[in-house]
Amino acid sequence: MRSTRPAILAAVVGVVAIVALAAVFLPRLRHHEMGADNDMLAAADVNQGREIAQSCKNCHSFERGEVNEIGPSLYGIVGAKIASRKDFQYSYALQQKGDLRWNVDNLDRWIRNPSGFIPGNRMIFNGLPDPQDRMDLIAYLMTLK
Ligand code: HEC
Repeated sequence: MRSTRPAILAAVVGVVAIVALAAVFLPRLRHHEMGADNDMLAAADVNQGREIAQSCKNCHSFERGEVNEIGPSLYGIVGAKIASRKDFQYSYALQQKGDLRWNVDNLDRWIRNPSGFIPGNRMIFNGLPDPQDRMDLIAYLMTLK
């Protein structure tokens, strides 16, 4: 049996090495998959987002229970289904997306370029080109719940 010892030792060392490598690289891999936007969201500035949200206020309200103006209320919008406010008449284009939710990714795409994300929508807004502006704004929207 003596001759099998080195083989067992080698196997144990191999397993330990694989586990150690996985421990180091898997979190990095997951981190990478989340993309740069999540880093930006983590670093987002809610107060800055509140300022940026002024540009939405011509058309949207941000308060709970406040009457919708030109656009639907954005209170509690993060995580809500697209076009789900009962008291707002959405465009056909937005209603067609009703199975999707306003998660961070979809909000980011919408605010960057509304008609690029959902062609035929009725929101007249050119979009915010700066990704950090969008993340600040989304971080602010997340507080509205
Ligand atoms: C000129 C008016 C106007 C401005 C400015 C505007 N919106 Fe809108 N928004 C609308 C309208 C109208 C709709 C409904 C679009 C439709 O039904 O096609 C809408 C829809 C939305 C929706 C989808 C809501 C839902 O219930 O599915 C979100 C999210 C949104 N806007 C966010 C924003 C943000 C954030 C800003 C500011 C950066 C902004 N909007 C600026 C008019 C506007």
